Amino acid sequence: MKIALASRNPHKLDEIRRILNCAEMEWLEPAALADMPEVEEDGLTFASNAIKKAMMAAFYAKCWALADDSGLEVTALQGAPGVMSARYAGTPRDDAANNGKLLRELAGAPDRTARFCCVVALASPCGRAQVVEGFCPGRIIEAQRGDQGFGYDPLFVPDGHEQTFAEMDAALKNRISHRARAFEQARGKWGVLFRGDYADWPAR
Ligand code: IMP
Repeated sequence: MKIALASRNPHKLDEIRRILNCAEMEWLEPAALADMPEVEEDGLTFASNAIKKAMMAAFYAKCWALADDSGLEVTALQGAPGVMSARYAGTPRDDAANNGKLLRELAGAPDRTARFCCVVALASPCGRAQVVEGFCPGRIIEAQRGDQGFGYDPLFVPDGHEQTFAEMDAALKNRISHRARAFEQARGKWGVLFRGDYADWPAR
């Protein structure tokens, strides 16, 4: 099955292909989507952004397409920064400013639990879509630790671990992350389809 990945991030592309690991999948070269306009991630949910990106890629590439959207949800902030994770402290996106704002907003909060969330959307060439999601629960610490990774990694300690994502070996983060869990779900739910059985998608 020919499939496009709606991401311009080469690390993400590599990681996703490795998790899905399906010989029957023929990945469309990212260059085939070079003319696709930048998708504005203005949805109110991760799912709506992921669906929008996957639909757009399926339309431009005229084949199946996968896309993801992710972010951090903090309990004491009623789920913020959520879909605003990348631009929490304003545009252009600035990880240091986002982390600073998060620490200020959480100052004195007794509950520092949070979770990373990732939604993956699969769109068919005729514009139907389904989603799966993955979570990584944990907590926000009081000061940044570690210099690997990106985004909120230096402030996030996943449940069952002592290190932040930014201190952790990348291979371990990639095994337990919200993205890994979402793409594992994708493999479970759509693996049959990826191998060429379209029974559940009659009007693809
Ligand atoms: P995107 O889904 O790659 O666009 O991620 C949106 C934003 O969520 C990023 O800019 C980060 O601020 C945050 N984010 C998503 N996943 C992670 C992660 O694994 N570590 C740290 N921050 C993340």
